[in-house]
Amino acid sequence: MKPFLKWAGNKYKLVERIKTLLPPGERLVEPFVGSGALFLNTDYPRYLLSDTNADLIVLYQYLQAEGEAFINYCRPLFAPENNDRDRYYTLRDEFNRTNDSRRKSALFLYLNKHGYNGLCRYNRKGGFNVPFGRYKRPYFPEAEMHHFAQQARHAIFQQANFVATMATCQSGDVVYCDPPYVPLTSTANFTSYSANGFGWAEQQELARQATKLAQRGVPVIISNHDTEEVRQVYEAAEINTFEVRRFISCNGDKREKAAELLALFSS
Ligand SMILES: C[S@@+](CC[C@H](N)C(=O)[O-])C[C@H]1O[C@@H](n2cnc3c(N)ncnc32)[C@H](O)[C@@H]1O
Repeated sequence: MKPFLKWAGNKYKLVERIKTLLPPGERLVEPFVGSGALFLNTDYPRYLLSDTNADLIVLYQYLQAEGEAFINYCRPLFAPENNDRDRYYTLRDEFNRTNDSRRKSALFLYLNKHGYNGLCRYNRKGGFNVPFGRYKRPYFPEAEMHHFAQQARHAIFQQANFVATMATCQSGDVVYCDPPYVPLTSTANFTSYSANGFGWAEQQELARQATKLAQRGVPVIISNHDTEEVRQVYEAAEINTFEVRRFISCNGDKREKAAELLALFSS
């Protein structure tokens, strides 16, 4: 089942490939859950799902807690009159001002489906600033939200940095990390998922945390671009490579082939 949110770098098309490397375990931990493509298409007894994006995590917590009631609460935002430029900017403004976290979560879903390319981007002050997307008829992902709520029965969602999430991992856990990828070109910008950037220091720290967990018997798999620098950072891991077609340009309108890798850290 597809994730209900559009999300840059989502792994829906790679789920089967990632699953061939995933060992069984008591709990799947995803420190960079994003739209949760792997979580939605696996069957672990429990899940710990984290991300630094608070808007994303709070939305998941409402859907988990309320299920159908929250889906019904979101539906009116998808009325045809809301698929309009002026209305979009009014609702985006409301999203940036409101203190009502339930309303904010529903608006986050609305913005994801009505904004340009499903991007999630914030300005320096933390305001969501993606322009109107001009779609004919934005899709209300009812079935996908139902599936998410079902699958979330044995999940914990938390807003956290990957270091904090990985620090809590223990024997029996399997960890899948899908960080913002290293840039392929100097103009490509993959660090705009949230207000905080994700640079080389973070890529290196992630590899260090993975090595540490593997030494304690917790397997860790990391996705990234297949570049010389990435291979160096993941030297402690077993590397699996493949080619994918994906959006790689800044403005997201150009599809190119890029080599990706899955690094398996295990003891
Ligand atoms: C490539 S996306 C993950 C996509 C996900 N696998 C999916 O299928 O949709 C990377 C995610 O990492 C999150 N992120 C960025 N920096 C982070 C950090 N320091 N710690 C945890 N999550 C972070 C972003 O908010 C984004 O959701």
